[in-house]
Amino acid sequence: MRREFLKAMLVSPWLVPESRSLQSALLVGNAYIASFARTDASPQGLITSNSDFFVRNHFRTPQISSDSWNLVVDGLVSIPLKLSYSDLLLANSVRRPATMECAGNTSGGIGVGNAVWTGIPLADVLKQAGAKAAATAVILHGADSGTGEGVPANTHFARAIPLERAMDASSLLAYEMNGSPLPADHGFPLRALVAGWYGMDSVKWLTRIELTSQPFEGYFQQQYYVALQANGERRPITRMLVNSKFLRPSDGEEIGTKTYRVEGVAWAGERKIAKVEFRASSGAAWQTATLAAQSAPLTWNSWSYDWHVPSAGKYTLEVRAFDEEGKTQPDVRNPGRQDAYELNTPHRITITVRL
Ligand code: MTE
Repeated sequence: MRREFLKAMLVSPWLVPESRSLQSALLVGNAYIASFARTDASPQGLITSNSDFFVRNHFRTPQISSDSWNLVVDGLVSIPLKLSYSDLLLANSVRRPATMECAGNTSGGIGVGNAVWTGIPLADVLKQAGAKAAATAVILHGADSGTGEGVPANTHFARAIPLERAMDASSLLAYEMNGSPLPADHGFPLRALVAGWYGMDSVKWLTRIELTSQPFEGYFQQQYYVALQANGERRPITRMLVNSKFLRPSDGEEIGTKTYRVEGVAWAGERKIAKVEFRASSGAAWQTATLAAQSAPLTWNSWSYDWHVPSAGKYTLEVRAFDEEGKTQPDVRNPGRQDAYELNTPHRITITVRL
């Protein structure tokens, strides 16, 4: 599993805060969440701390001063806007938890986190600007640009979402993460948060919101985040699929008790988690795990299963979740897929039991 993740790193360069190595980021992340799971009274609210939250950047993190920063809203609008940081802080805000997963996260990987985001509904700003009738999409422009990954010169990160999705109450302009101003790596001073969709649309270091009636031809819209079938079919990556992972035990761990509480989280983007199942060897019957709280859309739920260990030995533990529409995680990756997004086969870990 770890090798799979490291392989994914090579094609998809995740960045972690410079002070931590990749290995320690992985361990710190899981250890933190696992200990939180044991102490938090409302496990559905399991929060990934800002320092443990994964970072995925295509370019270097831009250092932006909130004093000189502005957000421009233009294109097919009646009233173009130029908003300052304090304009945003003074506007009516909302605060809510949401799970963000990178489209390239591997099964059980660290590219998913759950934070409490504070900001203003994107719809409020769009209503203030007044979308013209012809507008169909909203392009979210980031301040970051650079070269590398085959990027043409002068390309900045930008993504477009349908206007209808931008107007949905779950689309935010977020300036706080877990009660603190957004850390630089997570988009200070402002990022989009398209909750329930894979992370690429949650554009960081937002500088411009452009309304358009045209399909967006941007590099990161056309060359990345597209599902590719062997027969040449293409479709954009949008909604997060149902997925789940173990928090404890971790891959390779040794355990020494006859009853072990296996724990983890499960999420399904815009849909609720209906069920989580666990099994301790492939071919065995799946067992229903206990959900910690009533599931809600947009945020993950934690689950547990009290596993009665039959005997000492090596086990491959597996977890899979079902969303409220009955969709589950496929046992194997669709062999027709040519891309490496939406990887949601069951999380599988191998552990050793010594009794
Ligand atoms: N926004 C900008 N401006 N530049 C980026 O490289 N990466 C996207 C998205 N927003 C990106 C961006 C991707 S691919 C993901 S998964 C999320 O940010 C990751 O957000 P995080 O780094 O705060 O976890």
